[in-house]
Amino acid sequence: MTTDTTGTAARDDAPRPGGPADSPFVRACRRQPVPHTPVWFMRQAGRSLPEYREIRANVAMLESCRRPELVTEITLQPVRRHNVDAAILFSDIVVPVAAAGVDLDIVPGTGPVVAEPVRTAADVERIRPIGRDDVSYVDEAVRMLVQELGDTPLIGFAGAPFTLASYLVEGGPSRTHAKTKALMYGEPELWHALAGRLAEVTLAFLRVQIEAGVSAVQLFDSWAGALSEADYRRFVLPHSIAVLSGLADVGMPRIHFGVGTAELLGAMGEAGADVVGVDWRTPLDAATRRIGPDKAVQGNLDPCVLFAPWPVIEAEVRRILDQGRAAPGHVFNLGHGVLPETDPEVLTRVVALVHELSARG
Ligand code: CP3
Repeated sequence: MTTDTTGTAARDDAPRPGGPADSPFVRACRRQPVPHTPVWFMRQAGRSLPEYREIRANVAMLESCRRPELVTEITLQPVRRHNVDAAILFSDIVVPVAAAGVDLDIVPGTGPVVAEPVRTAADVERIRPIGRDDVSYVDEAVRMLVQELGDTPLIGFAGAPFTLASYLVEGGPSRTHAKTKALMYGEPELWHALAGRLAEVTLAFLRVQIEAGVSAVQLFDSWAGALSEADYRRFVLPHSIAVLSGLADVGMPRIHFGVGTAELLGAMGEAGADVVGVDWRTPLDAATRRIGPDKAVQGNLDPCVLFAPWPVIEAEVRRILDQGRAAPGHVFNLGHGVLPETDPEVLTRVVALVHELSARG
C-alpha cells in the first residue's frame, strides 16, 4: 500500500492517471473508454524514415538490435515525428532465436537467413532455452526506453512459433512454406517438438521485456494465413496458446496478429490475446463478428493506400474508424507493416486525422 497526499490509501496496482497503463492505447486494448482512438503503425521504426536510414548506415540489422542506445534512439524516432500513441521496441522476431544459438543473419532486402536449416530432432535440441542474460541488451534497452517515453506506452513483441519455425525450417523467407508444411504433415512429432521449443523461447523473451517495463506485448504470427483453419488448430494453435496463456498471470494487454487470416480470426481469438490484429482484407465489423464480442481489434488500413491521393486515404481512415466501432475496443493501425517507400509525412497526417475524427469530447 502507498499513501497519496490526501492520506487515503491508494492501491499499488492501480494505473497512475496519465501514465502508460492508463494511456488511450492500453485502455483501448482493455476495452475501456478512450478520449480518442489510439494509433500506431507496425514497422513504424524503419526504412520509411530518413533519420533511421542515416543512423543505420554502417550498422548491420542484428548488430543494431544488440546496442541499447541505438535501439532506444530508433524506437523513439517515429514517436517524436508522428505523435503515435505507442512505441514499439526496435528489434526483430529472430533476435531471441539467434540468442538461443541458431546461426542466422538478417540480409538487407531479403530478411532472416538461417545458416543450417532445422530439419532433425538434433537440430531442435540445439535451440537452447534463453533467459535475461542471453538478451541483456533488450532488458537494458526497454529500461532506458521506459524512462524516456514517460506516459507513452512501449509495446514489446515476439514472433509466434509458426512464423519463427517457417524461417528456421525453410532457411529463409518462403512464399509457399513448403518445407515447413512437409515437416508438419510428414513428421508431426518433430513439428510439435520444434514449435514447443520455440514457444518456450518466445515466452522467455516476452517475459524479459515485461519485467523490464513494457506496457503491452504483440505476438506476430505473420505467416499463419498460409494454413487452413483445421491445420492451424491442429499444428499451431496449441503452441500460440502456450505463449499467450503463459503470460496470463501478468495481466498485461496481449495482441495477436497475422496476415491473410480471414479464415483464422475466430481460432486466433481463441489463442488468448486481448486484441486481435486484422489485415486489410477483412472489414473490422466482419472481423469482430468472427473474433467475438469480448476482444478488441487492431488495424487495418492497407499500407498501399498510403500511396494514394489524400482524399482516398481520408475516406479509408473514416471507413475503418466507422467499422472499428463494431468492436468493444479499436487500436488503429495498418493491416501490415509500413512499406519502406512510404512518405513519412503521410503517416503523420494519418495520426492527426485519426485523433481528430475519433476525439470524444
Ligand atoms: O517498428 C517496428 O514495427 C519494430 C521493428 C520490427 C522489425 N521487425 C524491424 C526490422 C518488427 C516488429 C519486426 C517483426 C518482424 N520481423 C516480423 C513480423 C512482422 C511482419 O512484418 O510481418 C517478421 C516476419 C520479421 C522478419 C523480417 N525481418 C523480415 C521479413 C524483414 C524484412 C526484409 C527486408 O529487408 O525487406 C526483416 C528485417 C527488418 N526487421 C528490418 C527492420 C526495420 C529491415 C532491415 C533494415 O532496415 O535493413
